[in-house]
Amino acid sequence: MSPTLTGKTIVLGITGGIAAYKAATLCSRLVGLGAEVRVIMTEGATKFIAPLTLQTLSRHPVATDVFDERDASVVQHIDWADAADLVIVAPATANLIGKLAHGIADDMLSTTLLATTAPVLVAPAMNVHMLAHPAVQINLDTLARRGVRFVESGTGQLACGYVGKGRLAEPDEIVSVIVELLAGPRPLAGRRVLITAGGTIERLDPVRYITNDSSGKMGFALAESARGLGADVTLVCARTDGPPPPGVTVVYTESAADMHEAVLARMPTTDFVVKAAAVADYRPAQRQPSKMKKGAERMTLELVRNPDILQAIGDWKARVAGNGPAPFVIGFAAETDDTERHAMDKLKRKRCDLIVANDVSQAGAGFGTDTNIVSVYGEEGLVAALPLQSKRAVADRIWELAIARAERRDGPTDGGKGPGA
Ligand code: CTP
Repeated sequence: MSPTLTGKTIVLGITGGIAAYKAATLCSRLVGLGAEVRVIMTEGATKFIAPLTLQTLSRHPVATDVFDERDASVVQHIDWADAADLVIVAPATANLIGKLAHGIADDMLSTTLLATTAPVLVAPAMNVHMLAHPAVQINLDTLARRGVRFVESGTGQLACGYVGKGRLAEPDEIVSVIVELLAGPRPLAGRRVLITAGGTIERLDPVRYITNDSSGKMGFALAESARGLGADVTLVCARTDGPPPPGVTVVYTESAADMHEAVLARMPTTDFVVKAAAVADYRPAQRQPSKMKKGAERMTLELVRNPDILQAIGDWKARVAGNGPAPFVIGFAAETDDTERHAMDKLKRKRCDLIVANDVSQAGAGFGTDTNIVSVYGEEGLVAALPLQSKRAVADRIWELAIARAERRDGPTDGGKGPGA
């Protein structure tokens, strides 16, 4: 279920901004996913990056001049406009946005944009004040009302020296939006998925805390995969390494208690729950309001039990049973021995539909790595044993299993009467 753009033709328009160099990465990623990419560069874009770079990456000649008709059998801008499944402009300058909003067609890119009936995606990049200018904002509004979609600019250090909004979105983010718009089946369309990720933080005082080695990578992979399948994803994060994937709603939490509250509050509006977070079982009995000072040679820390969030979800599910559809619940189990027995025990006790167990003592499995080795259990026992593979591939497989089982339980997940519909 890895995303593929095979069979899709994407016209990539590049305009003259410093971020034009990022279009090379974008082009290469799209080609890597199987898309046929046709590149159109404005004259300004060619000042920042050589057409030969894009020609090499896309394996097709780059169009820069509307009058440079090489094939007498077609009119090139009409041919490319018709062939496109999507036109993406990245980076899009204020000038290009203005031209598109006002129907101006004075070069190959603006002409193709007027001639296409394919969806148009625009990734603006410009100086912070240019982006905020009422003229640009009105043009963006006009385009949005016409159905043009945007990959929003990021905030950060801009090439012009300013720090602010205006930076071109990262190529990976643009690719995920394109994949979402174009790629295959979307069995989770309209479904609300809640995923927890990372390790909770249990504070001792304002500067010290107890946590664990969880990186959040498995939860992030599950979120990215679910989003690609069309789900509306909420990611409840504790401490994680690196930023969450784009295109999901992120709720930041710190402790098990915070996460418990954030998750339980969302249960009535959730169709699938995945508890990938490593939740601390205990927290310090006392949280000191100011930094603790050292004293005696020995110190004993008293810990008290945290709420078990997955157990609370299972109990909530049991309470609402019979009064409408219950969410499909996927738990995780990190084990070092007797994996099957512990996993099956957790599945029953916490009323999960699936449990994903990883033997964290194996190399390539568990915390911090980009790979995982897991066994998935359902109420009948082992459902799938997934050998060493990327966390993203594991995530795709988990969703395949979960969707099939949820459909068996509740009917089609997409649009029909899925769980929680
Ligand atoms: N979990 C949870 N809340 C807790 C502890 C665990 O929601 N306070 C969830 C985890 O997110 C995971 C599952 O329960 O989905 C299993 O976590 P794990 O640490 O393997 O198991 P525990 O329930 O803590 O059991 P034990 O300590 O006996 O291994």
